[in-house]
Amino acid sequence: MTRVALVQGASRGLGLAFVRALLDRTDVGRVAATCRDPAASEGLARLRAERGDALVVLRLDVRDEASIAAAAARVAEACGPRLHWLINCAGVLHEGPALRPEKRLGDVDAGKLRAVFEVNAFGPLLVAKHFAGLLRHDERAVLANLSARVGSIGDNRLGGWYAYRASKAALNMFTRNLAIELGRRAPNLICLALHPGTVDTELSRPFQGNVAAERLFDANQAAEQLLRVIDSCGPADTGRFLAWDGQPIPW
Ligand SMILES: NC(=O)c1ccc[n+]([C@@H]2O[C@H](COP(=O)([O-])OP(=O)(O)OC[C@H]3O[C@@H](n4cnc5c(N)ncnc54)[C@H](OP(=O)(O)O)[C@@H]3O)[C@@H](O)[C@H]2O)c1
Repeated sequence: MTRVALVQGASRGLGLAFVRALLDRTDVGRVAATCRDPAASEGLARLRAERGDALVVLRLDVRDEASIAAAAARVAEACGPRLHWLINCAGVLHEGPALRPEKRLGDVDAGKLRAVFEVNAFGPLLVAKHFAGLLRHDERAVLANLSARVGSIGDNRLGGWYAYRASKAALNMFTRNLAIELGRRAPNLICLALHPGTVDTELSRPFQGNVAAERLFDANQAAEQLLRVIDSCGPADTGRFLAWDGQPIPW
């Protein structure tokens, strides 16, 4: 049986590492990788050259709902009507000098809040909306949303990072809602919000100063760790917020 995985936000960083790890698995027959500009991802081009038809690369920009709908139709056509893993990776914390995480209330800006929420929270929810039909079947399937520990309200002791923290808190609520609604018709679908730890990618690079070397994960290691967490979960775990080591994180 060909089991199919989809990684959304796969151009680089953790998303690209998930694609690589999933292609190496014997229980995965096909991987669909989406990103907003396939021609610009050297990593995906390299994997495509190495792995051929096992990898399907598609355009999807989470801020463009029509592109999400088009990608869902294309995945059904290219990979069949069943998805077994959908991993939402796209996320933004900073982007050039214009978008930096807020240090204080005075840094808050409505346009920037909207931009971060669109990628980190609305994006994965709209992806779930358009791909739900492919996840609703009787086999085991996983919808994993890349969240972050700083999205935990209970664990927030430092403040700051208004947009990023709150967008991940919203994503956590969306994940819990999805677990409840989709679980009614797909009892073998497991919806998870996952914290990867601090991973050495462009997203964390400006903020790695205080991270101990043994706590800064390489992207490939982080993807393997999260796949182990995903593999260890069953239907009873749906709706949980878990860290890279399988430990629950308070909402
Ligand atoms: N790295 C960490 O320490 C860390 C910690 C906690 C949580 N996370 C979460 O883990 C996830 C992956 O992060 P990362 O570290 O791999 O970040 P990254 O290396 O900066 O990669 C971010 C990814 O998001 C994509 N993206 C941004 N805007 C997009 C859009 N509108 N549509 C589609 N894709 C878009 C980027 O695509 P382009 O190449 O097109 O820009 C890129 O593939 C994120 O959700 C992040 O919040 C990371």
